[in-house]
Amino acid sequence: QRTGQLTGKQIIVSAGGTVEPIDPVRFITNRSSGKMGYAIAQAAAEQGANVTLVTSSDLPAPAGVQTVHIQSARELLAAMTERFEAANAVIMAAAVSDYRVATPADQKMKKDAANPGLTLELVENPDILATLGANKTHQYLVGFAAETQDLINYAQQKLTKKNADMLIANDVSKAEVGFGYDTNQVTILTRDAQPETLPLQTKIAVAREIMRRVTEAVKD
Ligand code: PMT
Repeated sequence: QRTGQLTGKQIIVSAGGTVEPIDPVRFITNRSSGKMGYAIAQAAAEQGANVTLVTSSDLPAPAGVQTVHIQSARELLAAMTERFEAANAVIMAAAVSDYRVATPADQKMKKDAANPGLTLELVENPDILATLGANKTHQYLVGFAAETQDLINYAQQKLTKKNADMLIANDVSKAEVGFGYDTNQVTILTRDAQPETLPLQTKIAVAREIMRRVTEAVKD
């Protein structure tokens, strides 16, 4: 058991991409590896927090971190909601699918010779960060923004609209930034300070910078 500035605090982190079924053998997902969220869970555990990592990824859990495995956005929502009341801080690093297939097929879908194209009907998924933002009482809520253009503007909008306390913006169109890499470059937005851009560095170094700020906000 580590001791640190977050000893006794409950930190919930989400990581990885959600997986939305099309039929029993196919699904819709994205390029998230889970590395960013796992690094945050590790950095929180290093500060002595009780960390729960809600994840779709198969990466090995960081030392001392409890993992909960989910697949779809709705499973992620349920797992986060269940743990929200007891949490001191929540960090949503997961890449959540905005849409899911309206009615996944029960059996493997077959090709239809008479119909060469295929149209899947998608419906919107719940927005987990926005749901937590609407219901937060004492929790410090951190979201991410994965953008390919107009990074700060879009991130600023997400901070406000989803009622987060901190938004970590990454421009995933850049090399070595975002999905899959061991490195990331982020800009940190909060409600009252100017956006702060950190250098390109390893995800664990980024995670420690984020957790240093979260610690300031939630420690006694
Ligand atoms: O996993 P890695 O390979 O290490 O990659 C890291 C990362 C690029 C996935 C990570 O750094 C990152 O940016 N995570 C957020 C990805 C994302 O879904 O961004 P977004 O801009 O679409 O969503 C904004 C925020 O709302 C995010 O905190 C997201 O978790 C949340 N969200 C989004 C949609 C939705 N339906 N529910 C949500 O809670």
